Amino acid sequence: MCGIVGYVGEKDAQEFLLQGLKRLEYRGYDSAGIATLNQEKQPTLLRAVGKIKNLEEKIKNHRTSDHLGIGHTRWATHGNPTENNAHPHQAGSIFLVHNGIIENYQDLKKQLTSHKFQSDTDTEVLAALIDSFYQAGSISLEDAVTQALKLVKGTFGIAVLSVLDPKHLVVARSGSPLVIGVGDQETLIASDASALVGHTKKAIYLNDGEIALVSKDHIEVKTLDLQPVSAQVEEILTDLSAIQKGGYDHFLLKEIMEQPTSLKETLRGRINQSEHFVHLGGPGLTPKELKSIHHLIMVGCGTAYYAAQTAAYLLEQFLPDVTIEPVIASEYRYRQAYIPDHSVALIISQSGETADTLACLREIKGQGIKTIGIVNAIGSTIAREVDGGTYVHAGPEISVASTKAFTSQVTALLMFGLTIAEVKGVNSRLLAPIIEEIAQLPDEIARILQSVNPLMSNLAHQYKDYQHAIYLGRDVNYPIALEGALKLKEISYIDANAYPTGELKHGPIALIDDRFFEVVILQSGFLFQKSLSGIQEVLARGGHVVVFTDTDFDLPVESVIKIDTNFTILTPILFNLLNQLFAYHMAVAKGNNVDQPRNLAKSVTVE
Ligand code: M6R
Repeated sequence: MCGIVGYVGEKDAQEFLLQGLKRLEYRGYDSAGIATLNQEKQPTLLRAVGKIKNLEEKIKNHRTSDHLGIGHTRWATHGNPTENNAHPHQAGSIFLVHNGIIENYQDLKKQLTSHKFQSDTDTEVLAALIDSFYQAGSISLEDAVTQALKLVKGTFGIAVLSVLDPKHLVVARSGSPLVIGVGDQETLIASDASALVGHTKKAIYLNDGEIALVSKDHIEVKTLDLQPVSAQVEEILTDLSAIQKGGYDHFLLKEIMEQPTSLKETLRGRINQSEHFVHLGGPGLTPKELKSIHHLIMVGCGTAYYAAQTAAYLLEQFLPDVTIEPVIASEYRYRQAYIPDHSVALIISQSGETADTLACLREIKGQGIKTIGIVNAIGSTIAREVDGGTYVHAGPEISVASTKAFTSQVTALLMFGLTIAEVKGVNSRLLAPIIEEIAQLPDEIARILQSVNPLMSNLAHQYKDYQHAIYLGRDVNYPIALEGALKLKEISYIDANAYPTGELKHGPIALIDDRFFEVVILQSGFLFQKSLSGIQEVLARGGHVVVFTDTDFDLPVESVIKIDTNFTILTPILFNLLNQLFAYHMAVAKGNNVDQPRNLAKSVTVE
């Protein structure tokens, strides 16, 4: 979603802002802009619809040597993606960039009669409000911002400059992240630490309800009531290679192929293969608390939710006295659901910023339920607000389609379940084979990726012109089918839906015709024969069946991708690699923008 950058220092502000915005491109946007200011208090505002390269062209024609500025990538909420609606917005001497939503902007707008509005946005209303306080009297920029923010309902991460003050920026947050990079004679602002990588390793993550006045060599953090805060400087651990393509054509392929290493990071120090136990430090629950758990709520959106569903099927195989409830955050936040005693909530999010997931966290925490984060992005809002947490350590995920995060989320959830099982005294003979497979999973993933990737391009060319796809799977392979369909639809734009194979005859089978192809996840063992019957039903209606499997079978399907593995329990995670590669090659075959699919944002920070 929207991205913010800011700079005050001695270097070329336009250059930093442009490079910073390029780093944030992955989040999804439809327009971009920057405003810089020189020492003579002359601003330069440049905005463009579409990709950053359009803004870059404008910058080339309007180069400045300014040392202070703010920039933004906008994902349209209020008003179309037009140049007037792009940020920064100006009101009087104020320039403002804003992530989030000002819910009461229409009421506020009615009162701001002296400002001539140029856009349809809520952000311009906030700019005008700040300006109205700033103009009204001898008040500092910081005071004007806090006065304005007191009247605002909604969420914000903002960066503000005033043409009257070429030495300072003011930033503030409530519900939308902001990081302040601490440099040498420069201070950098970003909504996501990835924009700061390579510039500084020191950062202050603002908390909700905080504001900061920053100059090139000074950072003063306060609460929105202007009480001083002693801000902690933290280390940015990401290095440049983690946010570069590293020789791959797309971030998506890089992230799929790096799963053996990203998963090793998830497992590092947490699993003892020889003695068959798992040690997960982060959740901070005592053995007594772990033992008393009888209900796990797993909250997530999109892929994170499917990771929860996948893990739920696996966990219930060895946690007989725990009910496991995966829930979709955007639904759960408005439900009046009863949460029984002895519950723990697992809050699953790659970005750690998803608005619906965050809302659930706050709601559940408010009910006195322990919340545990299963989060990838270090220092993100969810990671900071949960009672305890396990970082999945998959490394930055840049491509909008989530891949390596899924594998690490499922594995982290499994390890959390195993930790509970160990404390509850579940027979170690039941747990040992699972731990064994988890420990071997990175190498198994490496083998499968190498063997299957070369086959997928051909398969994609065979199916790229279909309009619809149905994914089918049973048991754990049902959420894997859901995840496969999500991956395909979001980057290939083929209408794809998933069903439990056994549900086919209760409705979806009516769809089958030549516009459709069907991807069936077929695992040997439990429910194999029943899955075969499902395939037969499709074949009997002239279906175009593709099977992802780990075994041989005798049915005249159109295409088969067979993986060679001795796994039995975690095979669904391996099948999902096929889903990922297939979706990737379909998107490439269709000539789509693989890493930034249309209409989507990487991090969904608005409801
Ligand atoms: O950052 P999160 O894990 O909270 O994001 C949740 C979903 O928005 C995300 O998984 C989304 O569905 C992906 N685009 C799927 O590939």
